[in-house]
Amino acid sequence: MRIFLDTANADEIRQATKLGVISGVTTNPSLASKEGIGTLKGYRDAVLEITDVVDGPISVEVVSVEAEAMIEEGWGISQWHPNIVVKMPSTRAGFEAIAQLSADGVKINQTLCFSVNQALLGAQAGSAYVSPFVGRLDDVGQDGMSVVRDIVSVYRKHDITTEVLAASIRNPLHCIAAANAGAHIATVPFKVLTQMIDHPLTTAGLARFTQDWESATRQ
Ligand code: G3P
Repeated sequence: MRIFLDTANADEIRQATKLGVISGVTTNPSLASKEGIGTLKGYRDAVLEITDVVDGPISVEVVSVEAEAMIEEGWGISQWHPNIVVKMPSTRAGFEAIAQLSADGVKINQTLCFSVNQALLGAQAGSAYVSPFVGRLDDVGQDGMSVVRDIVSVYRKHDITTEVLAASIRNPLHCIAAANAGAHIATVPFKVLTQMIDHPLTTAGLARFTQDWESATRQ
């Protein structure tokens, strides 16, 4: 399972890239607005900065809600850089836009996916990636990871090549479960990436090694 970073913060992306563990980035309008980005030009500038740092797919979401406007906006976004993947929501208008843009060669990440049926339809429409939102399903009392598992299993049964990108990952356990479910990718916030790295026994073990080595060299 590959790991993407779910952020529009260039510093976080820079730090994570240095570790050699992330191979792509996902953004959305909420993450962009968190970074003070409020215009399409600002979003474009931030994304182009990201493309300088990460050599992998960068998902950028449309903000239009009508099919025609989504297609126009999505096409425009796809021209920013060859690594751009356009995020389209799992709505009727979204499916129309996915069908049109994927036929034109644009890579689509079908976002806001909350069911196997949405994932099945998105794959037919031509999505390169589908993003089931695990945490948000958990938030409303549904088992988010079971949706990931079911999408993976149905896609496998029918030789569907759309990649399953587990999103709305809130903690390190979500990551392990996504990997076990067979997700191709998990996109994680920077905080979760940090939690995946840190372990108290590693910290304590390292402190002990350092201490023992120092006392040995003093003898
Ligand atoms: O990738 C989608 C993700 O950003 C949504 O996460 O935590 O806002 O549900 P969250």
